[in-house]
Amino acid sequence: MTCPNPSSATQPGTGATPVAIADGVHWIGALDPMLRRFDLILRTANGTTYNAYAVRGSSGVAVVDTVKAEFADTFFARLEQVARYEEIRVIVLNHLEPDHSGALPELMRRAPQAKLVISTRAPAMLKALLKADGQEIRYETVDTGDEIDLGDRRLRFLHTPYLHWPDTQCTYLLEQQVLFSGDVFGCHHCDPRLFNDRVGDFRFAFEYYYAHIMRPFKTHVREALALIEPLPLAVIAPTHGPILRERPRRYVARYRALSGADASLEPVPADAEPLRTLLVFYLSAYGSTARMAEAIAAGAEAVPGIRVSLYDLEGGETGPFVDLIEAADAIALGSPTINGDAVKPLWDLLSSLTVVSLRGKVGAAFGSYGWSGEAVGMIEDRLRGLKLRVPVAGLRLKLIPTDGELDDCRDFGRALAQAVTGAGAAGSEAGDTAAKPVIDFADLA
Ligand code: FEO
Repeated sequence: MTCPNPSSATQPGTGATPVAIADGVHWIGALDPMLRRFDLILRTANGTTYNAYAVRGSSGVAVVDTVKAEFADTFFARLEQVARYEEIRVIVLNHLEPDHSGALPELMRRAPQAKLVISTRAPAMLKALLKADGQEIRYETVDTGDEIDLGDRRLRFLHTPYLHWPDTQCTYLLEQQVLFSGDVFGCHHCDPRLFNDRVGDFRFAFEYYYAHIMRPFKTHVREALALIEPLPLAVIAPTHGPILRERPRRYVARYRALSGADASLEPVPADAEPLRTLLVFYLSAYGSTARMAEAIAAGAEAVPGIRVSLYDLEGGETGPFVDLIEAADAIALGSPTINGDAVKPLWDLLSSLTVVSLRGKVGAAFGSYGWSGEAVGMIEDRLRGLKLRVPVAGLRLKLIPTDGELDDCRDFGRALAQAVTGAGAAGSEAGDTAAKPVIDFADLA
């Protein structure tokens, strides 16, 4: 059962009642069942939840995260059922994005004695987020291993930056073995039954969330897992979606699998020299850009140490191409210029690449054109915007390639491959735009 309108008081997450998730620990978050798009880019077929928690110790209460501002009333209604404001000693924000910090200013007005605890990367963001509120915010920063003592309970902090903002951290309740994980292990899936062993199948939401939120930060995911995996885990309490109390380690293991550095399926002999990989993608209206692509691939393949793959973008799905690009060392993108632009499937591919890390990869652009030929330069600009290196100047030619121009394409492929393998001078960034002249017959007229 999903949660189009959680009106039943028989469900644990409805009726503004707090929900116990461990001894002395309550969920005090909010349900947002009707949300259909999060942060403009994520589709949320089942809405989402903004999970916040209260931890009661013998010497005071800690609140871990808050909720989106529009849901503050529900949050405070739940909080007031498990603690008085004067009992709150600590407010922990694992992540400052407004869906978790929205109720913070009002919480600090109601519990002015409470100490705000954030990660070492968070202060600048905190000030930027709350400057319009005008409230003076006092805070303390914590790093991995720092602890806060609540008497018979202790909160220990794990510095886990870039999951998915620079400020993010996790908080571990030692005595109950509860990991308050922030967005890590979360998903946009609203179900008032709250717990992973009670809600419906949310695998799609979990995988979708990882793919769009965590995947670009795989290196940081692996660093965070190195801190999380040694912990005894009874419950993982993320800021979105189901609370993971049944076999929580399965979700940790899934993150480990998804964040693997190499998704290649091909068996590689143990004694084989590692190959660098170049993917050549193209779209072609009359076959000219396709012939350029083939010649570029042939030229690149002549360079030792590189494996070249060639794909017609028109015939493929974007998702698998994104997977390939994530694992590749270099991409070359070919498009004709139509109405002063590269063609839409190429832009669709480029816009899909925001979910993977491209920093340090090599990019290049090429294409045939009939009149003005802007596409190549526009693709190069976009590649640089995505943090790829563009060490070989783009190659464009007018209409149908001659044999001599196809030789130029092979030279272009060779220079590109050398830039990837480090075998030639073209690997220098200094060659960004000036390594090779544009071939334009119109200039010769
Ligand atoms: Fe759920 Fe990154 O905020």
